[in-house]
Amino acid sequence: MRSIEMIVAMAENGVIGRDGDLPWRLSGDLRHFKRLTTGHSLLMGRRTWESLPGVLPKRRHIVLSRNVSRNAPLPTSLVHAGSIAEAVEYFLESAGAGERLFAIGGAGIYEQVWDLSSELHLTRVHAQVEGDTYFPSLDLRHWFKRDSQRHEVDDRNDYPFTIEHWTRDQDPTEVDVSTCGDVGWEPIRRLLADFALQVQVSEPGRPIPATFWGEPEAGIRGDVVFARDDTPIHSLLHEACHAILVDDERRADLDIDAGGDQQEEDAVCVLQMLLADRLPGVGRKRVAADMDAWGYSFLAGSATGFLERDAVAAWDLLRNRLGADVLATISSRNPGSEPASVEPADESRGGQRRLRSPNSTNADELADVQNLRPEPGAEEHGA
Ligand SMILES: NC(=O)c1ccc[n+]([C@@H]2O[C@H](COP(=O)([O-])OP(=O)(O)OC[C@H]3O[C@@H](n4cnc5c(N)ncnc54)[C@H](OP(=O)(O)O)[C@@H]3O)[C@@H](O)[C@H]2O)c1
Repeated sequence: MRSIEMIVAMAENGVIGRDGDLPWRLSGDLRHFKRLTTGHSLLMGRRTWESLPGVLPKRRHIVLSRNVSRNAPLPTSLVHAGSIAEAVEYFLESAGAGERLFAIGGAGIYEQVWDLSSELHLTRVHAQVEGDTYFPSLDLRHWFKRDSQRHEVDDRNDYPFTIEHWTRDQDPTEVDVSTCGDVGWEPIRRLLADFALQVQVSEPGRPIPATFWGEPEAGIRGDVVFARDDTPIHSLLHEACHAILVDDERRADLDIDAGGDQQEEDAVCVLQMLLADRLPGVGRKRVAADMDAWGYSFLAGSATGFLERDAVAAWDLLRNRLGADVLATISSRNPGSEPASVEPADESRGGQRRLRSPNSTNADELADVQNLRPEPGAEEHGA
């Protein structure tokens, strides 16, 4: 069966609407909406229909209402459906080849079609915006980010925003990331030894001790990083970087959960990309791509965007904890061909957030902090 694709623009505090309208002017996002939906069907709630300037050209409109006669009658060019089931049935019976069904809101519609949807076109508006309509719970643990593209503020766009494309239920075995087995254990051992860390390798199929995210992700206990051939290199580096950034007392206590605050988590993500340059055949670009594929999520839209544009606070923490000289050595030491990184100059929002991890069991316990829609006025929490 063809499934539903959701398309939404959401502020950092979950707001999607205000006073029956959009609370921003983002012509870049409207262009994206038009490009994606033209030639297809739109499924919307009655209030979203009323918020539109009129019938959108070259798109079939299916408007949900439980009582069309009580509310303003719908134009005859629209299709009225009294329930989601009726709307989907109508679409399946009438859609042409290749025609897609986009749920375009509002809040209740997203909530009702969430389980029927396999794709999410999510525009993250990088601002806290006042409003009265919120996106419902956004739990992306079983979703996979395919693509993201950041757009900056200009005279036609009130806020910076990032357009992300997510698909549901990506099989983790299909995510092609570099693994420790690809790199080989000798270079890994040498790298970790520079930071007084050891690696303990489990045999294929054997458990990985002290893994927070679940196998095949790496584990950490004291100064030992646990991994297997199929452990993604980004995961091994992530756990190692936690151990590198804590003091001796905290390192001695490390066991499964590295703890630390959001700034430290952000710094770990920066450091793991820098240290990837010291592994032959890996490099920061590869690890950044692997992080995106694995489900790390950054307000800057991608791991590379975060490293280059949005990690000022993380660099500060790295400088404080490692010392400027050590950091300069790490960030410039590059056995591959990539240039040394340039620290971002603009103000950092930080905001690294790890949304999901394939095969994770411990991650399930993080459902609360991974719910992206904070209560109005509440701070976001990172994993
Ligand atoms: N940022 C974005 O991407 C985005 C997207 C869409 C909308 N918005 C904004 O969100 C606001 C409107 O959204 P909203 O959440 O208030 O309203 P809405 O979801 O668009 O419409 C709600 C109405 O839809 C009908 N409805 C809902 N579920 C139904 C079902 N299962 N069966 C039959 N009818 C059903 C009911 O209409 P009746 O009352 O007629 O029965 C209900 O009152 C506006 O501010 C709009 O600009 C933003």
